[in-house]
Amino acid sequence: MKILFYGARDYDHLYFDPLAAEGDDDCSIDFQPTNLDGHTAALAQGYEAVCIFVNADCGRTVLEVLAEAGVKLVLLRCAGYNNVDVSAAKKLGVAVLRVPGYSPEAVAEFAMALALAGCRHIHKAYIKVRNNNFALDGLLGRNLHGGTAGIVGTGKIGAAMARICHGFGMEVLGCDSWRNPALEGIVTYVGLEALLRRSDLVSLHCPLTEDNYHMLNGETLGWMKDTAILVNTSRGQLIDTDALLDHLRRHRFGAVALDVYENEEEQVFEDLSDDILANDKVALLLAYPNVIVTSHQAFFTHTALRAIAETTLENAKSFQQGGPLPNRVE
Ligand code: NAI
Repeated sequence: MKILFYGARDYDHLYFDPLAAEGDDDCSIDFQPTNLDGHTAALAQGYEAVCIFVNADCGRTVLEVLAEAGVKLVLLRCAGYNNVDVSAAKKLGVAVLRVPGYSPEAVAEFAMALALAGCRHIHKAYIKVRNNNFALDGLLGRNLHGGTAGIVGTGKIGAAMARICHGFGMEVLGCDSWRNPALEGIVTYVGLEALLRRSDLVSLHCPLTEDNYHMLNGETLGWMKDTAILVNTSRGQLIDTDALLDHLRRHRFGAVALDVYENEEEQVFEDLSDDILANDKVALLLAYPNVIVTSHQAFFTHTALRAIAETTLENAKSFQQGGPLPNRVE
């Protein structure tokens, strides 16, 4: 199988190269630094599979070009698949395989790192001390211990986050139509409104679907405590950024920490240090001292990269051999 790997970065070679070299000669990968979109889809001519990440455009038009080029398989090297038009892929006879749960702890640990950084103003302290400012003004934080954590989506990552919060001595509330049996004794399930009203830390861990676009909007953000910490490591479109900015302007929230944000595709994973940000909402968010923005890096650990490469290549192999496809997205 010939695989075209879109959006390749140096770190992608770390685990994909040795694994691909170990495998049989039936599977070869060509790494392409450009990302998949309407302009680059035609590069897949002659390839049976393409390998893409969260920031690729895999909508209907792109899938049509891929299918026309002979592509039979989209290998997502990530868990989320909201960037793929799954029904269009099905109609075009293109299979979509993903990597669910490659390292839930990688994402959950980062979510807690963001919560702590925001809560204890570590992002500000770092800069202050570098400027020889050792004063504590502006750095007064709050204990997480004894507070309440609200986990929206208690699947693999949400469960890992719930356990971490439990370990911190927090009461843990969960909101999910599916009750995770592994969290019995750790999580108390409530509705979204109760969770938002009662939590000192709200962490989003549900996938983006048609139903939960802007689940945190002007009204629902209004249910949160003025001092609450909001962490999003899930998908940017779960939060209405304009409404969030509106709340921030009104001095709301202890901290807001976003690893993902709306329209991040325009810039995420790119070095734009010498450029002007087209997404000026990010610049606006960063104007608030209680906001931290990172660049979709919650997954980014050695453990996760290794697991992503292993499962992606297993997915490819199983597809090629007509084996079971438990990671198929339909
Ligand atoms: P999962 O499928 O194991 O769990 C998701 C849970 O969310 C399920 O239990 C589901 O019932 C629940 N859910 C769905 N809609 C909901 C709603 N409206 N309200 C409350 N709960 C809802 O998924 P997993 O592996 O835990 O990943 C969650 C999300 O994390 C992914 O879909 C992806 O968007 C994001 N992610 C972010 C990464 C990053 O680097 N920032 C890396 C990996 C995943």
